[in-house]
Amino acid sequence: MTLFPEMITNALGTSIIGRAMEHGLIGLHAVNIRDYTLDKHKRVDDYPYGGGAGMVMQAQPICDCYQAIREEISKKQGRKARSPRVIYLTPQGQVFHQKMAEELAQEEELIFLCGHYEGIDERALELIVTDHVSIGDYVLTGGEMPAMIMIDAISRLVPGVLNNKESAEFESFQDNLLEYPQYTRPEEYEGKRVPEVLLSGHHAKIEAWRREQSILRTKERRPDLLSQAKLSEKEQEWLKRWEDVDFVL
Ligand code: ADE
Repeated sequence: MTLFPEMITNALGTSIIGRAMEHGLIGLHAVNIRDYTLDKHKRVDDYPYGGGAGMVMQAQPICDCYQAIREEISKKQGRKARSPRVIYLTPQGQVFHQKMAEELAQEEELIFLCGHYEGIDERALELIVTDHVSIGDYVLTGGEMPAMIMIDAISRLVPGVLNNKESAEFESFQDNLLEYPQYTRPEEYEGKRVPEVLLSGHHAKIEAWRREQSILRTKERRPDLLSQAKLSEKEQEWLKRWEDVDFVL
C-alpha cells in the first residue's frame, strides 16, 4: 500500500526478484492508496489536529485500500482468508533483522503499508497494522525503500528464488557469523595472491580456513554478533589466543 506504486514495481521488477515473479514463485502487487480516496480532488492527506508542521495521511483511503486487498486475497484463495500481517514501515518500529526475515518468509501473504508526509492518522494504524518495523535508526522520506528492502530480504528466502541453493545456505548472519572472504580468478592481482589453502583442493582444510575467517571477521567487524554465535570450545580457546593480537582483515 503506497502512494508511489511505480517506485516499487520498477525497482523490484528487475533482477532476482523480478525473475522470481515471472516464475510465479512470489507475487507482488503495489496498490495505490490514492485509488481509494473518496475525496473529489483525490486528496489523501490533511492538516494535523492540534496544529504543527506537515500533513497527515487520512485513515479512510488506507483502510478502504486494506479492505480491497483483503477481498482480493479471499477471492484468490477461494475462501475467507485469515487476516494477513500488516507491516507499517516506521522509524518507531522494531529494527528489522535476518531472523525477522526468516519468520516473515513463512507467511503466505504480507501487506506493507508505506507512509509519507508527517505520518498516518493513528486510527488507521490501530485498525489494521499488526507489526511496526524500522530498517534502522535513521529517518527516510517514506516507507517505500524500507518496504523494498524487507521484500527483497524476505523473498530471497522463499524456496526456488535463489537458483544456487547453496548461496542462501551459508552467508552473512548465518549462525550470527559473517561470511568468509571469496576469491575468483586470477590467482594473483596487483601483487595480491589468493590464499594458498583455497588452491590446495583439500576440502577439509578449506572448510576449516573459511570457518576461521568467518569467526575472525565477525570479531573484527561485528563483535556484537560474535557474542551470540555458537562456537565450539576449541574455537573459543583458539579465539582467546587472538585476543591480544592486533590483526587486520
Ligand atoms: N520511514 C522513514 N524512515 C524509516 C525507517 N528508518 N524505517 C522504516 N520506515 C521508515
